[in-house]
Amino acid sequence: MAAESLTDKIHKLKKERNAVILAHNYQLPEVQDIADYTGDSLGLSIEASKTRADLIVFCGVHFMAETAAIICPEKTVLMPDIKAGCPMADMITVPQLQSLKLKNQSAKVVCYINSSAAIKAKSDICCTSANSIEVCRSLDCNEIIFVPDKYLGMYTEKKIKDNNKDKKFILWNGYCPTHAKILPEHIREAKKKHPGAMVMVHPECRPETIAEADRVFSTGGMWTFAKESTAKEFIVGTEIGMVYRLQKDNPEKKFYPATEIAVCPNMKKTTLEKVLWSLEDLKEKIVVDQKTAEAARLTITRMLGLS
Ligand code: 13P
Ligand code: SF4
Repeated sequence: MAAESLTDKIHKLKKERNAVILAHNYQLPEVQDIADYTGDSLGLSIEASKTRADLIVFCGVHFMAETAAIICPEKTVLMPDIKAGCPMADMITVPQLQSLKLKNQSAKVVCYINSSAAIKAKSDICCTSANSIEVCRSLDCNEIIFVPDKYLGMYTEKKIKDNNKDKKFILWNGYCPTHAKILPEHIREAKKKHPGAMVMVHPECRPETIAEADRVFSTGGMWTFAKESTAKEFIVGTEIGMVYRLQKDNPEKKFYPATEIAVCPNMKKTTLEKVLWSLEDLKEKIVVDQKTAEAARLTITRMLGLS
């Protein structure tokens, strides 16, 4: 009899434990394939809030699993590799945010979901790359402190200012090291190679890179657009894992990465072996202290209320 494969073992144990596997769009192909749900940060948060499973195995980076643990305090959230962090989320500390708030006391604070629970706890509302414009528009104030991603902040500010010139944005100097590698020349070279392709980029990209694109989307937005568009070819300006997801779900279309160097090392830390060990040993559990979790939950549920 053939030996049980890693995938079979994961499926079996997942059933026994009443677990669900959630994976971000940048995960390794084999991890995306084993997941019950693959999506962007907003989709993953919504899925975590809806699941009937007792256990969530989160294949992504720390802030994503932490968000799931905050939304679902009654569930156990596990990360197969707890060292998978997001460098951008670590680019702002609570004292730094407190000092920004002190200097701009009438401003509301919007934190990108790529932030720690402690930052969420000190913010008014959370946003993702799928809803930053909607979230900022929903706020009845003239000043917005937007942390930590300056590029998503700049993109959002530009869109908001199309209708409301008076809204002032106070940005923090955070950024995603992976998206910062995607340069305008990469897009221009890719366009030369594939002249008929639509260019989609993530709003974490530099403004000069965004200026070269036809469309700007979260990874979930890219997925929907690729499905619905009549275009047959796409240049994809985001982390490389997204190309696998798009190609798998649209085999009749062609997807080209803007550059092969846009790899998030943290997103690649989760492997199938680690997923299995996580289910076997119930490790690593995401724990958020109760006071921080309660405050951060308000910030996240305000956002989910708009969805
Ligand atoms: P999405 O929510 O668009 O998937 O983005 C998450 C992220 O970390 C992008 O780098
Ligand atoms: Fe963080 Fe960038 Fe990796 Fe997304 S791609 S998890 S923003 S480092």
